[in-house]
Amino acid sequence: MEAIASACMDLSGIDLDRVPSHIGCIMDGNGRWAAKRGLPRTEGHAQGEHALFDTLEGALELGIEWFTVYAFSTENWKRPKEEVRFLLNFNQEILDRRAEDLHERDVRIRFIGRNNWRVPKRLVRRMDEAAEKTRFNKTMTFTIAFNYGGRAEIVDAVRALVSEGVEANKITEAAIAKRLYDHSMPDPDLLIRTSGENRLSNFLTWQSAYSELYFTDVLWPEFGRDQLADAVREYQHRERRFGAV
Ligand code: IPE
Ligand code: IPE
Ligand code: MG
Repeated sequence: MEAIASACMDLSGIDLDRVPSHIGCIMDGNGRWAAKRGLPRTEGHAQGEHALFDTLEGALELGIEWFTVYAFSTENWKRPKEEVRFLLNFNQEILDRRAEDLHERDVRIRFIGRNNWRVPKRLVRRMDEAAEKTRFNKTMTFTIAFNYGGRAEIVDAVRALVSEGVEANKITEAAIAKRLYDHSMPDPDLLIRTSGENRLSNFLTWQSAYSELYFTDVLWPEFGRDQLADAVREYQHRERRFGAV
């Protein structure tokens, strides 16, 4: 990966034995980053790719086992047609450019989201290929949430329960969790959102019940391994109680 060449990150103040196992990231602010520079929004997305792979490099260095990013939401179809088309192509290009590198770094690539008619077949094929090729990798699971919505995911789980004929008294939290898009994915310990928006926008709705939330004003194209380290430092000062005392 290109990021390998750049300087090592500052790990001071981080206890590497207590890093979050799963970090989720809402990569927001690409459009505003571009607008500030008088560039088209698409330039912000392009710059966001560098931010993503620098952050991923940092996550590998920190030993994060699960790293999940929000790439395209079920609500993002509301954007102008040209931007949607750009994002679909762009995500395919990223896979073409990066899947092999990730494979060499022993990263397992996975996808969560609704696999419906709206997602072009060729993109689905690339996603399947990337997931298949990397499925035995162990160092990190990198999950891309694409055409993903937390509510849609819960609806899909409930539909599965109903179509399996599961009785009402057998519907438990575990039964629902088992039918989410990736039932092996642990709940995120830390959720990061960039760009100063303090909301989750339908990301990991079920799984985030007890996640620590970290909001930063940094726009996504300016995020990277150092900002990830800051988030982990802050996380390590939080006290997680899960309802107990
Ligand atoms: C996040 O940046 C990327 C996607 C949602 C695909 P935005 O495109 O939402 O950027 P802003 O929020 O308009 O600045
Ligand atoms: C959330 O960002 C979705 C992704 C980062 C893919 P949005 O920019 O779509 O969210 P809102 O509209 O500001 O809530
Ligand atoms: Mg946004």
